[in-house]
Amino acid sequence: MARTKIVVTGGAGYIGSHAVVELYEAGYQPIIIDDFSNSQESVLDGIKDILGVAVPCYRIDCGDEAALRGVFDQEADIRGIIHFAAFKAVGESVQQPLKYYQNNVGSLITLLKVMPDYGVANLVFSSSCTVYGIPDQLPVTEQTPTKPATSPYGNTKKICEDILNDVASVSNGAIRTILLRYFNPIGAHESARIGELPLGVPNNLVPFITQTAAGIREKLTIYGDTYDTPDGTNIRDYVHVVDLAKAHVVAVQRLLDAKGEAVETFNVGTGRGNSVLEVVQAFERATGQKLNYTIGPPRTGDVPAIYADVTKATQELGFKTTATLDEALASSWKWQQSLGK
Ligand code: UFG
Repeated sequence: MARTKIVVTGGAGYIGSHAVVELYEAGYQPIIIDDFSNSQESVLDGIKDILGVAVPCYRIDCGDEAALRGVFDQEADIRGIIHFAAFKAVGESVQQPLKYYQNNVGSLITLLKVMPDYGVANLVFSSSCTVYGIPDQLPVTEQTPTKPATSPYGNTKKICEDILNDVASVSNGAIRTILLRYFNPIGAHESARIGELPLGVPNNLVPFITQTAAGIREKLTIYGDTYDTPDGTNIRDYVHVVDLAKAHVVAVQRLLDAKGEAVETFNVGTGRGNSVLEVVQAFERATGQKLNYTIGPPRTGDVPAIYADVTKATQELGFKTTATLDEALASSWKWQQSLGK
């Protein structure tokens, strides 16, 4: 039987590449759209090594409507889209807001314009726990009120959620969407053939840790230890990227089955909060590497503490996390080692 075709925009990115692998292994035919503006062609080799087959890839910007239509013309019977493609550097978004609004909001609008013309109804959207801002209560559920974004990047996620709610609610089933609000993805595929591949100096904690342990960076700076948390450092919900990728597979199937409302929102995290210091300790424990770190001043815009209530995803999607923090960090380290220096 022919595999069900699912377009994965940003499929050469960190979460996207892991979703491509999980989709294929679950019996779907992923089709990658990526402009490689923040990813490398070598990711396609990694995916091919894992799956034993190459996944089709179109090198286009999915905000380019004509090019996008070209993909839909060429690939008959696309049944769903997972839309990862977006810029994601919070600091850069403050400096270059238009770049973020144009790309992140523009590409979603383009997709939503094109989808109905090709009878594609199903869209899974990459949202973020950033929409909760600094929450009044922990853990956050999907009902926790959203707050004004603290960066243009965060605002693009909020705006895209609003757009999808507005469009899906009046589309009479022509657009059905699942918004997945990710917490902090970490880790890498067990094969160490794909993983997080930041270009330049990493903004995120775990790649900075692994690059420091590998000797690429001199030391990790922990951004503040005087927050109102048990050890004074920020608390986040670190979810293994393969667990997160699997949530997309289930979400796609739920849309294909036309279960649920026209728009549904799910938190995807572990339900556990860990402090930055706990992550450092877990990394040392899981890898046997001693990490050079120092305490620095807080980073502007950081939320003191956030972690997910994942009851809804557990009950409705059957989502469960399989990896512990230590296992996730060990996989990040294995991936870092596979890259060399
Ligand atoms: N941190 C450090 N030192 C570093 C890097 C990070 O101490 O060198 C700390 C941060 O202060 C934070 C934690 O590690 O407390 C995690 O930081 P990340 O940058 O890895 O992740 P964030 O939680 O800040 O950001 C993530 C995503 C963003 C998203 C945000 C909220 O990377 O895209 O969650 O959803 F906007």
